[in-house]
Amino acid sequence: MHDTSSLWRQHVLPFTLLLGLLAVATIAGDYLLHRLNLVWVGRYLGIPGTLLIIGSLVYSLRKRKYITAGNPKTLLTLHEVGTWLGSLMVLLHAGIHFNAILPWLATVAMGVNVISGMVGKLLLKRSREHVLGQREHYQLRGLSKAEVERAVFWDAVTLDAMNKWRKVHIPIFIVFAVLSLGHIISIFLFWGWI
Ligand code: HEM
Repeated sequence: MHDTSSLWRQHVLPFTLLLGLLAVATIAGDYLLHRLNLVWVGRYLGIPGTLLIIGSLVYSLRKRKYITAGNPKTLLTLHEVGTWLGSLMVLLHAGIHFNAILPWLATVAMGVNVISGMVGKLLLKRSREHVLGQREHYQLRGLSKAEVERAVFWDAVTLDAMNKWRKVHIPIFIVFAVLSLGHIISIFLFWGWI
């Protein structure tokens, strides 16, 4: 049966692991690039990373019916895997170099974007069900309304926080896109590509 720690164990933990994996893969990848004298590869990883993220947006076009081809479920999986991998590439690309503020702001926005997306994917639906299930469980045990609300209080607060994260996904994407575009245009100008 449910206990108060299970929201953490069943839902928050997998989320933390997948996010932790992104951090570990970034640090390990950056370490390897430096060890193998391939730091320049990291510099160019910004390009495939960006392309992968842009490619993943096909799902958003499909969802909003700008295009009608493609299975939405498959496209959603591609969106999730593509943005995770693309973000990893961009994080490796960013490395631990601090010269400019704009690309770092873009990277922070990207981080918030990834986290909000993962909250929606991994936490929200099942957590909502979890809190509903708990309410029902306590009601069946004959607790009063106030007692039920007290019993699920912290889970309900957690759920509320998750809902807020989910809502941030699209606005923060726009911030991320604008900042990235600024960074990319300035680099292309510097390279004489435009
Ligand atoms: C077409 C895609 C991209 C290209 C061609 C590109 C190119 C570059 C180049 C050449 C640098 C080195 C600048 C320097 O040494 O001063 C750089 C640094 C960086 N880029 Fe990108 N980038 C791209 C996409 C992105 C994206 C999407 C992000 C973040 C969301 C990003 C974040 C960063 C960061 C954090 C740095 C380190 C800045 C620093 O040294 O302070 N890049 N990028």
